[in-house]
Amino acid sequence: MQTFELLDRFELLYPTNLKLADLRRTYIDFDLSSLFRLTDADEELRKAVVEKNLHSIFRLLPEEPGAFGPVDDLRKAVIEQNLHSIFRLVDHEDLRKAVVEDNLHSIFRLIGDDDLRKLVLENNDWKLWSVLDRYVDTQFTAAFKNFFVNNTEIDKDCFSRGQLQSKLWLVNELQKLEVDLGTVFLCAGWYATLATMLFESNIKIDKIRSFDIDPSCVNIAKVFNKPWVMTDWQFQASVEDIQNINYNTLHYTVSRSDGSTITLTDSPDTIINTSCEHIPNFAEWYAKIPDGKLVVLQSNNYYEVEEHVNCVKDIKEFGNMARMTGPLYAGELELPKYKRFMLIGYK
Ligand SMILES: C[S@@+](CC[C@H](N)C(=O)[O-])C[C@H]1O[C@@H](n2cnc3c(N)ncnc32)[C@H](O)[C@@H]1O
Repeated sequence: MQTFELLDRFELLYPTNLKLADLRRTYIDFDLSSLFRLTDADEELRKAVVEKNLHSIFRLLPEEPGAFGPVDDLRKAVIEQNLHSIFRLVDHEDLRKAVVEDNLHSIFRLIGDDDLRKLVLENNDWKLWSVLDRYVDTQFTAAFKNFFVNNTEIDKDCFSRGQLQSKLWLVNELQKLEVDLGTVFLCAGWYATLATMLFESNIKIDKIRSFDIDPSCVNIAKVFNKPWVMTDWQFQASVEDIQNINYNTLHYTVSRSDGSTITLTDSPDTIINTSCEHIPNFAEWYAKIPDGKLVVLQSNNYYEVEEHVNCVKDIKEFGNMARMTGPLYAGELELPKYKRFMLIGYK
């Protein structure tokens, strides 16, 4: 993914983190106010550059009595508050370019933030990770760094605005319900970015098991959830057709880091499927889930995508498809290209 896309998505994921908005505006718009909020730059320098504040400019100039130039410049500097004249009087080329020309190279030399300078002015993508780490504490940074360093191809739709908004919505609604998820089976879990978001929320979770029929998802899902793989396998991913899963007790195979395999046994308390639009024989799949399990389901009305073989036109149709004895939430989320539907409750 491109740096500007990642910055946009990080801002979307962490809307209360104002530093991420500033980082995006600094990188994309070269916005000076944002740049100064991001760095520990001297307040006088900010006022000089952003507000063209004469007091600050004079406080930043070298104190060299007798260094005044032509009287006319002194007059213009004082009476007309002419910035060009001020800098003709005193030799401070970087401050002059910063204040008069908003020259970013000079501003960065004065601020002295080398990583941010390389990211913003040299488009050095290697610096994105250390800069993001300063402002936000999330596994997503380490995961995208890992994909970048190892040249791992991922389907960038997993981090599209629509996908992230849909998953944020799910996490927010679960948070409001204050339910304990226990052992989670994430069905058709793809890269399990939802697992990362759940682990990083304050929702109570014992462990998450992600199952997808596509073998290329396993390693990517493990990178997205590495801290929880490392913590007693709180996260694991396995290749499974969700139609073949026993939702009472499942024996399934996972790989260790050395490539060997081991069979695990788990019983889910919660079954999440945010890919219901991809499941052709949905009724058959849903019937396999024992009554009383907590289920969290998402589908959509995005009929235009070929793989979407089980779209629904509205939440009512979705509700009829997935009956629950204890419904907790049913809702729709309007996205630019389609509507997402979500049901949460006890089957
Ligand atoms: C493109 S992704 C999902 C997008 C979805 N909106 C989401 O939020 O996860 C669909 C995933 O479903 C998986 N999938 C489809 N049918 C499956 C099945 N029968 N068993 C397991 N995974 C399946 C695909 O391999 C793919 O990774």
